[in-house]
Amino acid sequence: MFLSLVPDSAGERRSLSDYRAAAVYGIGFIINRFMSISDNSRLIWPGRKDAPFTPETPLPDFCRREHHQIGRPTALTRLIHGDNLGELQRLVREQPKSVACIYIDPPFGIGTVFRTSHTTGSRDTKTSDPIAYRDQWSGGIEGYLSFMHPRLLLLRELLTSDGVIFVHCDWRASAHLRILMGEVFGPENFRNEILWRRAPNLGKQAASNQLGRTFESILLFSRNPGKPLRGQHPEITTPYPLTRVGHPKGCFFDEQRGCWYTTAPRGDYTDDSIARLDTEGRIHRSATGTVYIKYFLEQAADGCWVKRQRVDTLWDDSAVRPLRHRPKAEDMGYDTQKPEGLLERIISWATVPGDTVLDAFNGSGTTITVASKLGRNAIGIDVGNASISITRRRLRELANVDLTVDVMSDTSNQDVPLELNITFQGIHSEECQVALSGMSLASVTAWGIGYENNGTWECLWYSGILRSTSVPATASVVLPATITPEQLTLHVELQEHHFAIPVTKDAKIS
Ligand SMILES: C[S@@+](CC[C@H](N)C(=O)[O-])C[C@H]1O[C@@H](n2cnc3c(N)ncnc32)[C@H](O)[C@@H]1O
Repeated sequence: MFLSLVPDSAGERRSLSDYRAAAVYGIGFIINRFMSISDNSRLIWPGRKDAPFTPETPLPDFCRREHHQIGRPTALTRLIHGDNLGELQRLVREQPKSVACIYIDPPFGIGTVFRTSHTTGSRDTKTSDPIAYRDQWSGGIEGYLSFMHPRLLLLRELLTSDGVIFVHCDWRASAHLRILMGEVFGPENFRNEILWRRAPNLGKQAASNQLGRTFESILLFSRNPGKPLRGQHPEITTPYPLTRVGHPKGCFFDEQRGCWYTTAPRGDYTDDSIARLDTEGRIHRSATGTVYIKYFLEQAADGCWVKRQRVDTLWDDSAVRPLRHRPKAEDMGYDTQKPEGLLERIISWATVPGDTVLDAFNGSGTTITVASKLGRNAIGIDVGNASISITRRRLRELANVDLTVDVMSDTSNQDVPLELNITFQGIHSEECQVALSGMSLASVTAWGIGYENNGTWECLWYSGILRSTSVPATASVVLPATITPEQLTLHVELQEHHFAIPVTKDAKIS
């Protein structure tokens, strides 16, 4: 492995147009940059390209678009199936500078195959389970950096002027990514390295030859320096232990406010600040006259006294607990799935309702699910079939969602035999019963019914089951008055394969 840090030109960020220029003017442009006096650094690795992609590459059309509307949505959600290098270029063309918050949880450069057990309901990642994605790189960390570099450049072009990007990684790549992000976004735009506890220090981790690697890093950069994030600064409330008579332990009672408080030494507060806090009733003086700052407790709805604190960079509190400590219903059986609490904190801090959130490494769809729940517009991109299929079903379990799914490469496979019959009962009434039968039913991992409308498949019903061993064989579907059976299409998923089948030819209708 060979990595080195070299100075770059005076603090300038490279934009897409820089790279276009580099492609046009060739090596001279790059040499000029190397030769100029610098206050910035760049990471050099074998295989690093200075024009890491050709933005003019024509992008293929999507082969299929679906639309799922459930309830009365307050925001739009878009799921894109495709390689994010191409899809990010498309988004940069379609809607540059439009995303307030990007969260990505890319492969970490681990060298592992990750699996999904969502069709079996098992948490074991057996080698027979379908592959979610491969985190394997030719050329190790250098190959990984060559993969991340062009994507970070594109992500930068999508951020609004007050937008922010969170990049989730672990000890393997965090140092390299921080330097690379410093180059792409500007070292002055580095905001935080958040340490998120992904596991308790138990078992193999605790017994290893170094300290347990139980934290992951989330690198936070903004598009521009200094501005506060758009949403609510995260806070945590912790219940306070009580004495036997039911008073918060070690606390004092403030008669004027009618509530309990803790105290802390004045620390680096200036005399002016102490005077101001005194007028606000926030100074406690001990019997000897020593000054302490008062921190008031709050009474929660259940009557308990709680302490509210602003969150710092160490995230190991109960709101962001790893998935294994979260309700079972949240577990999609997707290796590397992150907890919704983590994304709730990030999205609520970085955005307000109506903003757009992007996750270009969608996985099981945690980011766009949470964003949709919080009333944010959301875009998720993933190259994997399992990701799209799990996320589609996960989003359909929400009460209010307006979801568009753009499928880049249709995985329909003529070589996979499919023997299915479909029957309709009550097709002429408003609500009809659809039943699927046949040899292939046992292998069906999901199915749905809808109709074609100007190139979009409008979904009427989709099996929402994520963790059962089999999908339901029947569905109750409300057909719009204008839809005839000839317009209906059945969508069937068989693990990796997706079929879109016109239903009328062999359908039995009564
Ligand atoms: C660590 S997982 C994301 C997990 C996600 N945060 C969650 O909560 O489920 C990384 C994801 O990146 C996807 N991925 C890897 N390379 C990609 C690429 N070039 N384009 C789009 N997605 C990619 C993988 O398919 C995988 O689903």
